[in-house]
Amino acid sequence: MKAQGQDVVSLGAGEPDFATPAPIAEAGIRAIEQGNTRYTPAAGVPELRAAGARWLSSTFGLSYAAEEVMVTAGAKAALHMALNAIVEPGDAVLILAPYWVSYPALVTMADGNAVVLPAVPEHGFIHDAATIEAAIRTHKPKGMLVNFPNNPSGSVPTRAQVQAIVDVCTRHDLWIVSDEIYATLLYDDATHISPASLPGGRERTIVVNGFTKSHTLTGWRTSFLAGPRAVVDAACRIQSQVLGNACTISQAATLAACEQALPQEQERRMRAFDERRRYLVEQINQIPGLSLTAPRGAFYALVDARAWCKQRGIDDVALAEILLERHLLATVPGSAFAIPGFLRLSYAAAMDQLRAAVVRLTAFGQSK
Ligand SMILES: Cc1ncc(COP(=O)(O)O)c(C=O)c1O
Repeated sequence: MKAQGQDVVSLGAGEPDFATPAPIAEAGIRAIEQGNTRYTPAAGVPELRAAGARWLSSTFGLSYAAEEVMVTAGAKAALHMALNAIVEPGDAVLILAPYWVSYPALVTMADGNAVVLPAVPEHGFIHDAATIEAAIRTHKPKGMLVNFPNNPSGSVPTRAQVQAIVDVCTRHDLWIVSDEIYATLLYDDATHISPASLPGGRERTIVVNGFTKSHTLTGWRTSFLAGPRAVVDAACRIQSQVLGNACTISQAATLAACEQALPQEQERRMRAFDERRRYLVEQINQIPGLSLTAPRGAFYALVDARAWCKQRGIDDVALAEILLERHLLATVPGSAFAIPGFLRLSYAAAMDQLRAAVVRLTAFGQSK
C-alpha cells in the first residue's frame, strides 16, 4: 500500500527507528578497510567471546568464561542453535504466551513439540509457578523458552517471579532458554533479572542476548549465546555446520559495542522510547473499548481490543485488516503471539506516527 503511495502508518516493525551508532558502524568499516574479512572460528573471534563475557558480567551480573560464550548471527540464530543442542526428537518445549512469533517454528525445526501455555493478561502476563508446574506434569518438557522483557507484552517479572520459574525448572530438571534481547530496554522501576543470575539458574539456563534492539544492530546479525560449556560446545558444533561463523565485519562492530557503553546514545534512545510509551498509555486508555497496561520493557504496546472485537463480532485478525484497509494503520494482531483479541503496536516509531495512529484508532472506535 505504501508503494502505491498510500499514507500508511506502520507500527508493525520491531526495529528501532534510530541508526546504528556511528562508533559501532565505523568499527565495521575499519574491519573492511583493514582486510578483516576472513573466516573466524565458528564460535566467534576469541576477543569478542571474552568481551561478551565481560559485558554479560558488568551489565547483568552473569559469570561466564569466554569459552562459555558463543557469537552467532542474531538472537534468532542463537535460539536455533540452543534448541538444536538440547532438544531430542519429540521432546516437548514449553512456551509462555504471549510469545515472539518465531518460537513455535524454532522448536518444530529442532524436532521438538511446542507446548504453549495460554497468556495470563489478568496477572500482568507473568505465569505463576503453579500454572507452569501443572503444565510440566502434563507434558514432561525438556525445557522452557522464556522472554523477558517480553515481546509483545513488555512485561518484566520481579526477581521473586524469575526465581519461582528457576525453582520449578530445577524441581523438574528443565532447561531454560532465556531470550533476553530486550534486557537493557527498561522503564520505571523495572530491573532485568536473568534466570542464570539466580541460585540454581546458571547450570540450566542458556542465555541469548546482544545489541540487536538496544543499538540497532538489526541488520548486522550478531548476538551471544552463553551457558554451560557442554551446551555451548554442542551449539558451536551445530553452528559450524549450518552457519560457519557470524559475519566477521559485524563481529568487529559488536566488539566496539561491548567496549564502548555509549551512555549518551542509550539515554537519548530510552528517553524517546519512554516518551512514546507514556503517550500511548495515556491516549489509548482514553479510547472507549481499548485498554493498555503500561509496558515495563522493550518497545511494544499490547493493546487489549477484546471489547472492540466482541462489539463488532470480529476477531483480532479481521480488526487488524480493517484498521489497515480502512484507516491505513498497520498493527500486528495478537493471534500472531497467541494472545487473540489484542493488537501489538510498536513504538519504535516516531511520535508523529504515534499521534496519527491514535487519531486513526479513535476514528475506528467512533465508526459503526
Ligand atoms: C523476542 C525476540 N527474540 C529474538 C528476536 C530476533 O533478534 P535478532 O534480530 O537478533 O535475530 C526478536 C526480533 O524481533 C525478538 O523480538
